[in-house]
Amino acid sequence: MKVIKDIKALQNISDYFRATIKTIGFVPTMGYLHDGHTSLLQKARMDSEVVVVSIFVNPTQFLPHEDYNEYPRDFLRDYHICKNYGVDYIFYPDMKSVYPDDFLTEVRVKEISDRLEGIYRPGHFVGVTTIVTKLINIVKPHYIYLGQKDAQQSIILKKMCEDLNIDTEIKICPTIREKTGLALSSRNIYLTDEQKTEATVLYEALNEGKKMILDYKVVDTDSVKKYVSNYIARKSKNIKLQYFAITDSYLMNEIENLKNYKGDVVLSLAAFIGKTRLIDNIFFNYTN
Ligand code: PAF
Repeated sequence: MKVIKDIKALQNISDYFRATIKTIGFVPTMGYLHDGHTSLLQKARMDSEVVVVSIFVNPTQFLPHEDYNEYPRDFLRDYHICKNYGVDYIFYPDMKSVYPDDFLTEVRVKEISDRLEGIYRPGHFVGVTTIVTKLINIVKPHYIYLGQKDAQQSIILKKMCEDLNIDTEIKICPTIREKTGLALSSRNIYLTDEQKTEATVLYEALNEGKKMILDYKVVDTDSVKKYVSNYIARKSKNIKLQYFAITDSYLMNEIENLKNYKGDVVLSLAAFIGKTRLIDNIFFNYTN
């Protein structure tokens, strides 16, 4: 396994693999890898001849008051994890090579970036789409592996690749959870043990929402939203729900009534537990 810091060097390596018809699987990360990431590494290893992981805590996707400085970083730990999972290249660039002083460009996927997470984290997705475009141009992957945990991010990046005719396929892989149901996230290290236990209510609440729709056949999504929000309030005093949404899985448009709806439904939420903001979601297919 090689660690590459230089952008041009990685582009040359990628050109070589593309020219020799070797498939490149890419897992973009901000490091502090957990089992969610390693499940992506496993998928990439199974599908591709060359596996590249990027480790870069991207400042432009953090809002000024967010946890960019505190975000966990441990390159050596990540290095060993990548080695154990058979990664071929770690791309670990310096800040200045990614964002030189005269950097001016932004990539923005309209509409989807402004809803749900975009309302509470304005500008966040522009940071994501801009860095991922750069990473794609550097790594030149055939496949990119993303976790469903960040559903809106994955959906936006899929749309970006579709709209810009980017020659790479986004593969959205299942959320990995603790036995309790808590979705794995690098930010879980901010939680105390009690908060971790309390946070399991979020996944429970998503499943309650799904049950209302699929088992109790509730089609009016406002009623489902009220039920889920009351469920969380009843089960936990310390969780502050920011939003709970019922959307489609293509553009994340809110569904008002499921009566005439067919297709994948995404239930997604964001909530604070103490100072830590958690997101989670579930997807399921709906036919009336
Ligand atoms: O999901 C993440 O870790 C980041 O948003 C990504 C895709 C690596 C871009 O910085």
